Amino acid sequence: MNNRTPLMAGNWKMNLDHLEANHLVQGLAMALSDAGHDYSKCEVLVIPPFTDIRSVQTVVEADNLDIKYGAQDVSIHDNGAYTGEISTDMLTKLGCSYVVMGHSERREYHGESDELVGAKARKVLDAGMTPILCCGEALEIRKAGTHVDFVLGQIRAALAGWSAEDVAKIVIAYEPIWAIGTGETATAEDAQEVCGAIRAALREDFGDATADSTRILYGGSAKPANIKELMAQADIDGALVGGASLKADSFAEMARFYA
Ligand code: PGA
Repeated sequence: MNNRTPLMAGNWKMNLDHLEANHLVQGLAMALSDAGHDYSKCEVLVIPPFTDIRSVQTVVEADNLDIKYGAQDVSIHDNGAYTGEISTDMLTKLGCSYVVMGHSERREYHGESDELVGAKARKVLDAGMTPILCCGEALEIRKAGTHVDFVLGQIRAALAGWSAEDVAKIVIAYEPIWAIGTGETATAEDAQEVCGAIRAALREDFGDATADSTRILYGGSAKPANIKELMAQADIDGALVGGASLKADSFAEMARFYA
C-alpha cells in the first residue's frame, strides 16, 4: 500500500467541440454518481481542447462536480507576441489544475525537446498547477531493447536541476508510442517494467520521499478491459487515456477500477 491517490486522466486530444464537451462531462458525472464512485479512491481528470475548457469549467462549477480538468499543452511565455499560444495564467483563471506536456504527438509534430518539456513543467508548477510529464519510446527503440534507458533519459533531461520537493508534486505518464491509439496495449508487465524503472530512477536521483509520492501513469490503449490489470502493478498509479476517455461509460468504468 502507498499514499498515492490513483489518477484517471482523459486526454481528449483534438476531439469534441464545447457543446459535446458539456455533454461528456455531464454524462461522466452522472455515470460516476450512479455507480457510487468514491473520488478519494481515484481522482478523475478530463483534459479537453483549449476551446472547451471554459464550458467544462461552467458545468463543473454549476453542478459542483468533483471532476478535475486541465489542458493538453501550455506556453513557456507569460504573455506577448506568441501567436496561437496559451499562458499558464489563462489556464489558472479557468480553474485548470493539471497541464500535460511532452505528449509524443507534440514531440513528433511540433518538435518539442526534453528541455522545452522541462521548462513547461516548471512553468506549470510555478503557476500552482500539476504538470503531467509524458515520456515513451517508439517501436524501433523497444525492438532494440533500449527503451528503459531512453525513457529515463527523457525524464532526467526534463527534470535536470529540479529539487526533490518539486519532483514529488508532478505526475509522470509513461506512454509507449507503439501502444498509442493502436489498440496494441503494452502488457501489464511491460508497463510495470518501465514505470518501476522510472520510480527507481527517482529514488536514486531525488530520494525515497519523492520516489514514494510521485504518481506514475501508464498510457497507450488503456481501456476498461485492461485497466484492472494495469492498476494492480506496484508502480502504476493511474492511466492517461485517449480513445476510451471519449465515452462517459467506459471512462467511468475505468475510474472505478477498484470496485
Ligand atoms: P490512447 O491514447 O488511449 O487512445 O491509446 C493515449 C494517449 O495518447 O494519451
